[in-house]
Amino acid sequence: MNNNPFWRLMSYLFNYKKEVTLAILFNILTAIFTVLSAPLISPFLDILFLDSSQASNYAEGSLLQQEKWFKQQLLFFIAQNGKMKALQYVCFAILGVFLLKNVSRYFALFFMAPVRNGVVKDIRNKLFTKALSFSPSFYTRERKGDLIARVSTDVQEIETSILQVLETIFREPLIILLSIGLMIYISPPLTAIVLLMLAFTTFVIGGIGKKLKQSSQEVQQALGIILSRWEESLSGIKTIQSFNAERYKEQQFDIENNFYRIKTIRMLQRRDLSSPLAEFLGISVITVLLWIGAQQVFEKQIEAGTFFAFLFAFFNVIDPAKSFSRAYFDIRKGIAALSRVEEILHYTSEVIPPSHPIPFATFEKEITFDKVSFHYPGTTQKVLDDVSFSLPKGKKIALIGPSGAGKTTICELMARFYDVTEGRITIDGIDIKNISLLDLRSTFSVISQETTLFYDTILGNITLGREDIPMEEVIKAARIAQAHEFIMDTQDGYNTHIGDCGLMLSGGQRQRLALARALLRNAPILIMDEATSAVDTKAENAIQTDISPYLENKTLLIIAHRSNSIQHVDEILVIQEGKIVEQGLPNSLFEKVCL
Ligand SMILES: Nc1ncnc2c1ncn2[C@@H]1O[C@H](COP(=O)(O)OP(=O)(O)OP(=O)(O)O)[C@@H](O)[C@H]1O
Ligand SMILES: [Mg+2]
Repeated sequence: MNNNPFWRLMSYLFNYKKEVTLAILFNILTAIFTVLSAPLISPFLDILFLDSSQASNYAEGSLLQQEKWFKQQLLFFIAQNGKMKALQYVCFAILGVFLLKNVSRYFALFFMAPVRNGVVKDIRNKLFTKALSFSPSFYTRERKGDLIARVSTDVQEIETSILQVLETIFREPLIILLSIGLMIYISPPLTAIVLLMLAFTTFVIGGIGKKLKQSSQEVQQALGIILSRWEESLSGIKTIQSFNAERYKEQQFDIENNFYRIKTIRMLQRRDLSSPLAEFLGISVITVLLWIGAQQVFEKQIEAGTFFAFLFAFFNVIDPAKSFSRAYFDIRKGIAALSRVEEILHYTSEVIPPSHPIPFATFEKEITFDKVSFHYPGTTQKVLDDVSFSLPKGKKIALIGPSGAGKTTICELMARFYDVTEGRITIDGIDIKNISLLDLRSTFSVISQETTLFYDTILGNITLGREDIPMEEVIKAARIAQAHEFIMDTQDGYNTHIGDCGLMLSGGQRQRLALARALLRNAPILIMDEATSAVDTKAENAIQTDISPYLENKTLLIIAHRSNSIQHVDEILVIQEGKIVEQGLPNSLFEKVCL
């Protein structure tokens, strides 16, 4: 892989070969027409200041061969048709060249627009796909805000800082090279002086560019912190208000916001230095040029008209050089954003899918925890300690124990949201690390303790995008989950939009939708982690009754605090502080364990 992030970004352009080629082509044309406009100035001045009767004098002097010829032709033309006619032709020529230049410039931009936005779209899509592949442990509070900053402002920054100036990088060097070629052709010594001074300018500006990249990185980090605070405060708005914690949160935000302000000011001050500095250095070069050039004109080493053509050619270098230096700054800034985006694209998830997965079609025998110990990434405390048990096909097992004992953790390890620290989990004898995540997760329907609903309709939340499912199936699942009735009471039934994270529904209603979703998935193993904790007892009993036929051929792992939820299980496992302390039939254990 290419080590330079800029060239890696360029590799995205391959998807847009046609547009890029056209844009480059039109940029080349723009460059050619820009450069062509310089020599046109010379005959214009000649017409203004020369006397056509002097035509023969131009057979001598220090002029170059071609120039001599051109000047002769011009003078003959003036002698024959008059100055006005010649002026007319030259003015039309100037107009024509500038028209062509600007038409080409427009088409270059025209073809670049879809390229720029296409590349940004590709990057966003890639980031989203990547973000969905990370194991949940990736998403701590800081990381969520930081990730949002990266996928929003950093990606935008890539667009404005790099992609928008791409045509500058294609076009301006060409204009500069061609113009310098013309300058060398007109006067090598003057060109040498100009180039020396330009080299100095580039060196000075380059130094600032390095600093800018670092500043820009700091600004984005500070923004990530602010976004985290927003995200956290909005999702916890009820807690903040009920505890009157607004002032406390405001103070926290103010400190972080101020930090962002300071970093941004420093970055802007550095950036704003570039343009005045570049202009002043540019004017210095011009002054020196005027000084030396005018002397050469006085000494008749160079024609006044030719010197003007040289000056014009040099002016043609200044603007592209200025935009090129600005582009250079922007790109340094953009590369900082690009590196932050790439960090995500190159991040390897803690849960690595097997490179050669063992094919796994159907669940046949059992899931086994074999001496499993586990601590969460970034912590040292063992959450599970030497846990061994089996969940045979068709059996129903309840996992009970005090809060924080490790019950939810067991479910998460089964679905491989995390990898075990010691021991192994097998399914039909195969270590789950050797099964593709898709196959593994198709084996389970999980109703997690924290209900997650999405900004979508009720139907969308139950089917999660599977359009092949007949509506009767959806209704059947919703009926078992005791959700059908309240769904029908909502404004548009199954097509009601439930708002952000299902905020329009009650806690119990949300849980029932989540249950319907899991039942509809119809996976061989059902994991219910306090799936009905927010549902009232009457509805819970109804669920118990209606779910029985559904569970007949299924394997069940159920976690619950209420005894009525686990009356029908085959076995109970009692877990305490990460260890299985009791295991037995429900009747014998039930009295023993106080729920
Ligand atoms: N993402 C995490 N990072 C670090 N530690 C965690 C994480 N999630 C849970 N823990 C810790 O792991 C332990 C077990 O948590 P777990 O969620 O498995 O408990 P639980 O038995 O499901 O409890 P409850 O009945 O309250 O749901 C707890 O001590 C908890 O602090
Ligand atoms: Mg739990």
